[in-house]
This record gives sequence, structure tokens and C-alpha cells, in this order.
Amino acid sequence: SSVITMSRPKVLVAMKLVPEIAIDLLRKRFDVEVCDSIQVTRAEIMKKVPGKFAIFCSPWNKIDEELIKTAGPSLKVVGTFSVGYDHVDLNALKKYGIRLGNTPDVLTEAVAETTVGLLIATTRRFFEANHAVKTGGWKDVTPVWMCGRGIKNSVVGIVGCGNIGTSTAKKLKTFEISQLLYTSRTEKPAVKALGGKLVAIDELVEQSDFIILSIALNKDTKFIINKERIAKMKSHAVLVNIGRGELIDQDALIEALQEKRIGGAGLDVMTPEPLPLDSPLMKMDNVVLLPHIGSASIETRTEMAILTAKNIIAVLDNTAMPKEVQF
Ligand code: DGY
Repeated sequence: SSVITMSRPKVLVAMKLVPEIAIDLLRKRFDVEVCDSIQVTRAEIMKKVPGKFAIFCSPWNKIDEELIKTAGPSLKVVGTFSVGYDHVDLNALKKYGIRLGNTPDVLTEAVAETTVGLLIATTRRFFEANHAVKTGGWKDVTPVWMCGRGIKNSVVGIVGCGNIGTSTAKKLKTFEISQLLYTSRTEKPAVKALGGKLVAIDELVEQSDFIILSIALNKDTKFIINKERIAKMKSHAVLVNIGRGELIDQDALIEALQEKRIGGAGLDVMTPEPLPLDSPLMKMDNVVLLPHIGSASIETRTEMAILTAKNIIAVLDNTAMPKEVQF
């Protein structure tokens, strides 16, 4: 009797240490190649992508026409382990008939939790205070030592009220804020029900004590926080960014922070990532920097991995993906 070995479609997982449960799902249907460096380089992906049916990637892997051509006609699906897909060239996907899956919803609460935590940590100076404790700075305590502005009675402005912005609004509402402002293409009933007022971005930056960026990056939102808008902010305004670094003109932000023209910034995302150690942001007491850990709860990362695998498998089955990006 002869054994016929059918070759199975191939997936490239461009990340190390993806939760095993997701890799197992893929292995049932595909030959799976997992990259073995932590910081997967473009060169490694280009070398391994030819002949693959699918790429399981992260926001740090640029998916462009060159990569798609290198993969060749076998490539049918990109599954990004993220809700954001600014790293993916949609026109190129369209041109070659490749589908895209992402991970909305499962990460909403984890990112909203990070947002609230980052806001509090920044305005109440947690990291500066922690540093003082650990370096012998906890002495000569006065009533104003390590004080920061509270959230109660403040105006909170949320730029981009999708799932994450809406969840953040709900959470902050319980802090007895005085007003909730938001920007969005359309009025959001869920945010309106919280007392949220839909405003233009310029009004939001002018009136808010706390400004939260939770909007997707695209050509319309790049540098949505530019020099002019930073100049309109209150002198104590705290800016929190959990979207993408390029939503902010970072040079303009650095200048404003150095000149103490705004209160501070809490950044889970920045430009570039990882941020070089010699960035002026590193030296500022009124800046809290996190290494893009918005969605980094254990449960969420597992759910994101499973969802990414299921998105990829759906294309093999020629069915709707659980979460498909329509473009
Ligand atoms: C996202 O989901 O877009 C995050 O930035 C990546 O984890």
C-alpha cells in the first residue's frame, strides 16, 4: 500500500511564546512555523514567509506589498494579534485578495483598565513617589509633597469613543467627574447615556483636565495631537495615550512638557517603540511611560491568541472569521 502525504497549508507565527492553546488550534489544521526570536525582524519574516497560507503577526510587523509578494500566491490571510491594524497596508491586501482578522472586544476591558491606571498613576505621581521611596527621598514630608490633581470634579475628554473609549468613560464616570467630553464620527448612545457630550477635538483639548487618546491610527488621525492643539491645552492638562504613538507629534509634546506648558503625560505607546534610552521623555518626572502593555492581562492575551488562530482557520474553512476587518 502506498502512503500519500498531502502537504498541509502553512502558517508563519511571527511571534515567540504565543499561548500554546492557540498554537495547538493551528497545528490541527496547518504546518506551523513559529519564529524563534523575541524581537522578530523583518529579515526573519521575509525569509520564512514564502509559501505560507497565513501570517500570525503583531503590530510590530509591517505587512506591506513587498512582504505579500515575497510570500507569494499561497498567502490568503493575515491574522494580527491586535485590534489596531495601522501596520497593515489594506490596499495591498485588497490587490492580492488577502483577508485580515484582528482582535477587538476581547481586549477592551484590559486596555480600559490600563487607561484608568495610567491616568491615576500619572496625575497622582505614583512612579515619582515610588522612586522617592526606594531612593531615600521619603523625608521632610509636607502637606503638598507628591501631590497631584485629583480626578473628582474634573473634565475628562476622550478622543475616539469606540469600545475602549466607551469602557474607559464608564469607569471614569464612577470617579464623580464634572464633565465627560468625547469626539467621535457619530454620537454614541452609550456615552450620551453617561452624560457624555460630543464635541469637536479643539473644544475637547481646550476644556479637558484629562485628555485620553483611544482612537485608531490612520492617515486622518496621525498627529491629531499637534503643536497647535497642545498649545490650546490647560497648563495642568494630563495627556494619556493608549492608542498609537503617532497620534501625537511627539517632538511638540516633548517641547511642551519641557516648558511645563501642560501638566504631564502618561504614554503606553510612543514613537518609536521601544523608546530609545536617550529620549528626553525618559528624564521627565511628569511623564509615565509603559512599554505598550495596554492589553497585557494574562486572560486577554490568551483570548487574543485564540481569536487570531480562529480568524486564520476560518479562511481555510472558507467561512466568516469571528473578527474580520472589512475594507
Ligand atoms: C492592539 O491591540 O492594537 C495593541 O496595540 C497591541 O497589543
